[in-house]
Amino acid sequence: MKIKSICCIGAGYVGGPTMAVIAQKCPQVKVTVVDINEARINAWNDKDLSKLPVYEPGLDKVVEEARGRNLFFSTQVDQAIDEADMVFISVNTPTKTYGKGKGMAADLKYIELCARQIARVATTDKIVVEKSTLPVRTASAIKSILDNTNGKDVKFQILSNPEFLAEGTAVTDLLNPDRVLIGGDNDTTEGKEAIEALVSIYANWVPKEQILTTNVWSSELSKLTANAFLAQRVSSINSLSELCEKTEADVNEVAKAIGMDSRIGSKFLKASVGFGGSCFQKDILNLVYIAKTYGLTEVADYWEQVIIMNDHQKRRFAHNIISTLFNTVSGKKIAFLGWAFKKDTNDTRESAAIYVADELLSEQSQISVYDPKVETEQMYTDLDYLNTRSSEENRSGLSVTQDPYETCKDAHAIAILTEWDEFKTYDWQKIYDQMQKPAFLFDGRGLLDIPKLEEIGFVCYKIGSSNKNL
Ligand code: NAD
Ligand code: UDX
Repeated sequence: MKIKSICCIGAGYVGGPTMAVIAQKCPQVKVTVVDINEARINAWNDKDLSKLPVYEPGLDKVVEEARGRNLFFSTQVDQAIDEADMVFISVNTPTKTYGKGKGMAADLKYIELCARQIARVATTDKIVVEKSTLPVRTASAIKSILDNTNGKDVKFQILSNPEFLAEGTAVTDLLNPDRVLIGGDNDTTEGKEAIEALVSIYANWVPKEQILTTNVWSSELSKLTANAFLAQRVSSINSLSELCEKTEADVNEVAKAIGMDSRIGSKFLKASVGFGGSCFQKDILNLVYIAKTYGLTEVADYWEQVIIMNDHQKRRFAHNIISTLFNTVSGKKIAFLGWAFKKDTNDTRESAAIYVADELLSEQSQISVYDPKVETEQMYTDLDYLNTRSSEENRSGLSVTQDPYETCKDAHAIAILTEWDEFKTYDWQKIYDQMQKPAFLFDGRGLLDIPKLEEIGFVCYKIGSSNKNL
């Protein structure tokens, strides 16, 4: 089966970039990305490419090339579904905030709505692709919904095609993926044909040997497993960063020493203020919940520890600021450089900065933030979502500037929360001169040249080293 038209439901951080790259690489296929969020679709259609709703290096160029040629963004969901041979579901699957599984299970209501909508509007056979990250065995629920077509003679094949892109490097990850994973019903001819149809889309730019096909369940579970393993590495190195601080070992030296063992590998061993992002926490909680529902208590506890360690690391960073500033930050200005959960993205979901700010605001500090890509309103939305204090209190406790020097002026301490490259290029002497003394600096990302800053006069805290001066 040759795919001529693709629809993707969900124009977010995954749907937008993924479909833009598919459209760029498959000019013969019409790709329509739909969303119920009209503002988001308008932003994807904005002539000014700096207004795209997702900031990713290189994405503007890809969109510019394909948009209007074979890439379209629209709110006409029904029409796009019916026109397509292949429908990707790329909607959000957040952690449930209510009812059974609250705080752990994935909320599948948006997925179910999509499946119902596809079943309702489809008049021709379709391949439905799970692009969202889903609990293992979701495809069987989607299948039972899709099979309910009110007597219409329409058939569906379901594939699982999880996305492994990381934000900030989405375009290069999509163009050169380590692998593409496609799970399908490889026991039937129709299932095999569906798998082949999706393989032939990716084969336009991904070498065949890197396109892995499996059964649906392995594919669904591999996505949760990949994120759990990656997050586990960060929590593992972060746990040792605390031990390094007590023992004069240096976490970067330890990471380098163990990372050179090819069995361990060097990636994802950077100690930090804690991992953030929309995926790691949500997907591990989901894994923990699935294990619990099968009665696998030890499995659930094992993976939950990755989250417990991460929460500890974020809290530890905030408490360290408080204790270093003579056990009180009340009324003191603390400058935050960075709010995004990592560099090169405007995404703030689960960013460590939010939790560190929350702890410091509870101690009545005055926070001033500078982030090169995050909108001011987003920061307030992030804090309000925690429900720790009123929206007005969040607004009076935290201010935002567009100038890093202004943010740091008169501050008692600076905290580096995101590893934006531009922070390394600042005039740190000028920043020091304009701060309260002692001028404390807490590098939550191991980003800056600490000996150089100490020469200027800063009193520095670096994650995972003994910090003798503090
Ligand atoms: P997102 O919140 O940025 O985007 C989801 C979009 O879906 C939103 O714009 C929302 O309006 C839209 N939507 C929801 N219900 C809809 C409906 N019924 N009809 C039309 N549109 C609808 O989410 P995201 O970050 O793109 O993540 C999407 C999925 O991909 C999640 O399951 C996530 O776990 C997974 N994932 C995310 C990443 C990442 O880096 N963000 C990476 C891999 C996988
Ligand atoms: C992650 C997965 O990497 C990706 O494959 C999946 O598709 C989605 O989830 P993402 O959350 O976008 O991607 O970014 P990632 O680079 O994994 O970073 C996640 C968090 O871990 C960030 O806050 C990052 O700063 C932190 N991190 C990462 C560390 O603290 N240390 C590291 O060594 C690596």
